[in-house]
Order: sequence, then C-alpha cells, then structure tokens
Amino acid sequence: MSVAQFHHFQTPPLSVFSLLSSFYLSLFFCVIRRMVFSASLYQASTSSSFLHERSLSSSSSSTLLTAPPLFFSPSTLSGKQSCSQNKLVVHAKRLSGLEEAMRIRRERELRSTRKFRRRPPLRRGRVSPRLPVPDHIPKPPYLSSSLLPELSPEHQIHDSEGIIKMRAACELAARVLNYAGTLVRPSVTTNEIDKAVHQMIIEAGAYPSPLGYGGFPKSVCTSVNECMCHGIPDSRQLQDGDIINIDVTVYLNGYHGDTSKTFLCGNVDDPLKRLIKVTEECLERGIAVCKDGASFKKIGKRISEHAEKYGYSVVERFVGHGVGTVFHSEPIILHHRNEKPGCMVEGQTFTIEPILTMGSIECVTWPDNWTTLTADGGPAVQFEHTILITRTGAEILTLC
Ligand SMILES: *[C@@H]1O[C@H](CO)[C@@H](O)[C@H](O)[C@H]1NC(C)=O
Repeated sequence: MSVAQFHHFQTPPLSVFSLLSSFYLSLFFCVIRRMVFSASLYQASTSSSFLHERSLSSSSSSTLLTAPPLFFSPSTLSGKQSCSQNKLVVHAKRLSGLEEAMRIRRERELRSTRKFRRRPPLRRGRVSPRLPVPDHIPKPPYLSSSLLPELSPEHQIHDSEGIIKMRAACELAARVLNYAGTLVRPSVTTNEIDKAVHQMIIEAGAYPSPLGYGGFPKSVCTSVNECMCHGIPDSRQLQDGDIINIDVTVYLNGYHGDTSKTFLCGNVDDPLKRLIKVTEECLERGIAVCKDGASFKKIGKRISEHAEKYGYSVVERFVGHGVGTVFHSEPIILHHRNEKPGCMVEGQTFTIEPILTMGSIECVTWPDNWTTLTADGGPAVQFEHTILITRTGAEILTLC
C-alpha cells in the first residue's frame, strides 16, 4: 500500500530537471537535423564539383571535430572544407536515418499502444460493513485512531532475527496476493476478493494491515482500470477487459509485508497488456539498482527511463516507503526522476511500487478520501514488492 506524498517532497525542481533533460535531447536532434539540412542544401548546390574536389582534401577530418557544424554556411566554405562537409553529410544521413527509423517505430508503437476499447468510467459500488478480526490476532498500533498516521522518520534496518520475521510476513503477503489473483474473473465483485483475502490472512494468524489504517474500511486495496491505487473493495462486479491491481499487506508477528500486482480480467486489449508488462519491468529495473550504498534516486531514474521508452508516464503522487515493524516509514521511494539524497543500507527493507499511466499523471480522489483515479480517465497500472537490501543487491521478500 503506497503512501500519498502530501508534504514530503515538492515536485517543481524535479519537473524542471526532466524538462531540462528532454530539452537537451531535442536540442541534440535539432543540431543533427540542421546539420543534415544545411549540408544537403550545400550538397545540392555543389554536387557536380564534389568529384574533383574530393582529391584536393586529405587532412580535413580534424577540422570537423573542432569546428562547430551548426554554424557553417555553404557560401563561406572553401573547397577544402567542402569535402569534410561531404563526409558530414554521410554521417549525418546515417544518424538521421537511424533517428527517423526510431521515430517511425516509436510512433507506430505509440499508436498501437494507445488504441484500445475505452472502459466505462469507474463507479462507486456499495461498501459492506467491516469484517471482524478474532481477538487472538495481534493488532497494529494505528487502529486506535481513524486519522492517517504520520510517516515514521526511522529507517527500518533489521538484524538477522528481524529479517526472518520480515521474510515470513512478506512470504504470506505474496501467497495471499497469488490466491487473490486466481479469483479475478468477470462477475466477481471486489468485495468478494476482499472477503477471501481477509479470511486467508486471519487463518494464517495475521492482521490485514489496511483494515482501519487511517480509517480505511477494508482488508485489501482493489484498484480497477483508471484507479491508480487505494481502491476500496465494493459491490462492483469485474467486467471482461478490466484490469485490477490488488494490494495486499499483512501484519504477522509484529512485521508488515507489502506487495501488489495488476491482474487481467478476461480478455484485455493488447495496449493495456503492454502497459502492464512495462510497469512490471519498471519494478524489476528499479529493484536491479538496489544494494548497500546505492543512492535512492537511481530507482526513479531507471524506472523513468524505461517508462519513457514507451511514452508512458510515472505517477509522482504515490511513493514507496520503508516497511517493517512500522507500516509506512522513511525512506520515501520516488519512482520518478529526482535528486533526493540518501543511500541504501544493508538490512534495510522498503517497498518499490511504481504506477504508470499512458498519459497524464494528474489525479482525482473520491470523497471517500482514498480511491484515487487518473484525471483523464486513462488506465493506471501498479506493481509492488517489499525488498531487503543486501551487501551485493536486493532480495525480493514478497515472493512465494
Ligand atoms: C475526507 O476528508 C475530509 C477532510 O479531511 C473530511 O471532512 C471528510 O469527513 C472525509 N471523508 C470521509 C468519508 O472520511
């Protein structure tokens, strides 16, 4: 279950950062284009003289490297320079051919990525009363208040005994999530999924962490189609072609394990399947940079790079978090490009849980104060693992 970023980190400097990087990228292509354009203009006007001029120049390639190609103009070129010009045309053409091929491929992919049956807008169903939890199951401390707990400032770094308990909680969360996924099919309600998840968790002697957290009324988050996260299970039946993220957190022996996946309901359109695949890959790539001493900002960089390749956007509002004896703590894990300082430490546990959209990352929250949708109604996909930082990498704890 992700944390909403209200006060922690402001986004403007980050947006400026990503604006700058895309600015430099387009500047680069602009330069290439201008090189090709002015060079081919020149070639057109002098192509007849190239053949005999070529023999005049032999040592001009070094001038190419030192002279800024953007500013030459055909009228000022001597014969000697014109030949390096010719080489430039060849190189620039090759580059521009590559750029053009990449652009065409990207556009074709984007077109096929975006065309899909528009899903009907998500509507709120009826939310059933809270399910009871047997007395013998230990409860987390936040149940005493319906206010959202403050994010704990302490990083959660475990000794070997703590790691064993983290493993157990996370493994249970993963088993529950897998089971929940088997229930996804048309006509099943998210409330039925909640009930099944609740039952399995209490049978394992654990507490469903979302239940009562900041007043959350159910045992699991079920986020359908354009719901980014924190969907409340209700009487809505899943429809053929829906996608649904199920986010399971369990509290076992004093430790939380947190994981989520997006599942397909019936026949899902290919563009949506691709968004799902890429989001899962983003999570894997984010995890791949983790190890003792690595900086947190690498996670956002990797995830953004991969998402951008497909023209997808990374949601900034919801972030990963430290997890362990406390449900939500520092470090905040940003999934987008950022300059947040800080490094990972061996024995530390936190979640990575990127949400990707096909377009805007603006969101709207329903009056229930939880359910958050994309403002443009486009689909959103999320995947999440709890990981343990080791000396050489990261161990995914929420596997079974
Ligand atoms: C949502 O939050 C607002 C402002 O904090 C509060 O007034 C309202 O009662 C909350 N709604 C629910 C359903 O909890």
